[in-house]
Amino acid sequence: MCGIFGYVGQPANVGGAVLDALRLLEYRGYDSWGVAVGDGASIAVEKQTGKIGGAAVDFADTDIGFGHTRWATHGGVTRPNAHPHVGPNGRVAIIHNGIVENFRPLRDGLVASDHAFASETDSEVIAHLLEAEVDAGRALAPALAAVFARLDGLNAVIAMDIETRELVAAKTVSPLVVGSGPSGLTVASDAIALAGHADRVLYLDDHHLVRLAHGGLTLFDRRTMTELPAEFVPLEIDAGDASLGGYPHFMAKEMAEQPAVLDRLLRDGGDQIGALARAIGGANGTFLVGCGTASYAALTGAYLFSRIARHHVNFVVGSEFKYHEHFLAPGSLVVALSQSGETADVIEAMLAARRQGSRLGALVNAARSTLDRMVDLRVHLGAGPEQCVLSTKAYTAKVAALLLAAHHLADTPERGRELVQAAAAGLREMLDEGWVDGVRNVARDVQHANHLFVIGRGLAYPTALEAALKIKEVSYVHAEGFAGGELKHGVIALVQPGTPCVVYAPNDETRADILSGAMELKSRGGHIIGIGPTPDPVFDVHLSTPDVADAAPIVNALPAQMLGYHLALLRGNDPDKPRNLAKSVTVK
Ligand code: AGP
Repeated sequence: MCGIFGYVGQPANVGGAVLDALRLLEYRGYDSWGVAVGDGASIAVEKQTGKIGGAAVDFADTDIGFGHTRWATHGGVTRPNAHPHVGPNGRVAIIHNGIVENFRPLRDGLVASDHAFASETDSEVIAHLLEAEVDAGRALAPALAAVFARLDGLNAVIAMDIETRELVAAKTVSPLVVGSGPSGLTVASDAIALAGHADRVLYLDDHHLVRLAHGGLTLFDRRTMTELPAEFVPLEIDAGDASLGGYPHFMAKEMAEQPAVLDRLLRDGGDQIGALARAIGGANGTFLVGCGTASYAALTGAYLFSRIARHHVNFVVGSEFKYHEHFLAPGSLVVALSQSGETADVIEAMLAARRQGSRLGALVNAARSTLDRMVDLRVHLGAGPEQCVLSTKAYTAKVAALLLAAHHLADTPERGRELVQAAAAGLREMLDEGWVDGVRNVARDVQHANHLFVIGRGLAYPTALEAALKIKEVSYVHAEGFAGGELKHGVIALVQPGTPCVVYAPNDETRADILSGAMELKSRGGHIIGIGPTPDPVFDVHLSTPDVADAAPIVNALPAQMLGYHLALLRGNDPDKPRNLAKSVTVK
């Protein structure tokens, strides 16, 4: 939910380097930012609310520094609440990702010992506790081990001791990766921020604690403080992957990348998808679990396995899974869907599943993420870094992987490949400027709407839910998706003359009924936006999509993605960093 980055190494413009690294981590939260660097024997700090944008920091060259980009949890969006937080004596500073769930009693104890706090945050407690340990003569590494053990919740902390000019870091579930390169040592929430600083990386586990100093890196088991061997792997991220590549926004770039992502999945994903299909076929019940957009991909998967393989898989929203864990039986399979592989609700679900002895699987985009490293089998989506807070290419990759797995289970793998190839070709056609113009015109028609409804039936029902999420989270229009059959059970009371109503009308068994639903909406004055391969008189406007049978959920995502994007532009919103959101929700 927040992005953290630290550097120790050759003297350089560390402040500027930290700020550049934070720009690559802003997808994790952008309410405020802060940078702290060594300024002689002191810690110099610059903090601002809002996004980094073109901001600059003015620090002398130095050899140590770190920074933080925040998604606010405890304490409002103010400069005092921005990280880094410095201890009362100015020797120790910290940056933190996560929530210290027991911060209140810890803070009360410190206040009772006359500690004065500069912020309302849970995080500042860590700085006070840590500096007290260091002031009592403990080195920073064992001091952090002791303090970290007192913190409840999922946390990642980087601490600085300006006297010893060292950084120390530890984490529980929230991600941390260490980088080693010619100019020094780095540590960050995501390897993408290490590009340009490191050529090899070390992914920290929950029992690790790492010390970065001019003498090099030391890795500890923070439970015993015994030293461990540091096993680095090559950094596989190119800074170019995270660039806009000439597009105006990451959202535009990532929508356009979807055909190529499907091509790569067809080329590289076969073995992992086959293994997943066999695991689902052999499991004593399978649960597909995800949050937000990933949950709608999971629900789509439930429909696909039913239609194609006549195989029942359960769908559960990630944040609800822990209330379902008693459904698990020996031999159950729980498959998490996640772009980031760091979503706390999904990780929690997988920990619950592991407690019940289930087999764990994942469809995950971020390789070596917490989720990727905790499961027994996985499908790497291979969609490349997804920088826009809205998930687009990772969503369609998940749906494609599930379609391929369902056909694999039905012993018709070639049919699955044909459909995904057709979907990739169809998306390429839709990305033509003429088709995009049609969506842009719809956006203009509905740009002042306060409410927008999306209906779909059968395989298009989860698509309707995803479409509504795409539109609402980037345009701030109140958009809701419904099962087409639910209209008459209350929803239609919301429809007024001119209310935009998106109707998914694929050429499948749902068409007649969904067109009846469209007529019901139109008779109440709804403005009907039809999406599907075939026009119909009930549509006030028709956005054409290729007829790709059961691959329809792949191509049907793009109209909603593109509509949300152009609505955001018309409404002056930042399509890559919508208000109040973060790309990876690493808090419960
Ligand atoms: C997607 O557009 C949203 N930003 C959000 O719902 C997201 O899908 C959800 O937070 C899950 O993220 P994950 O795929 O990284 O687990």
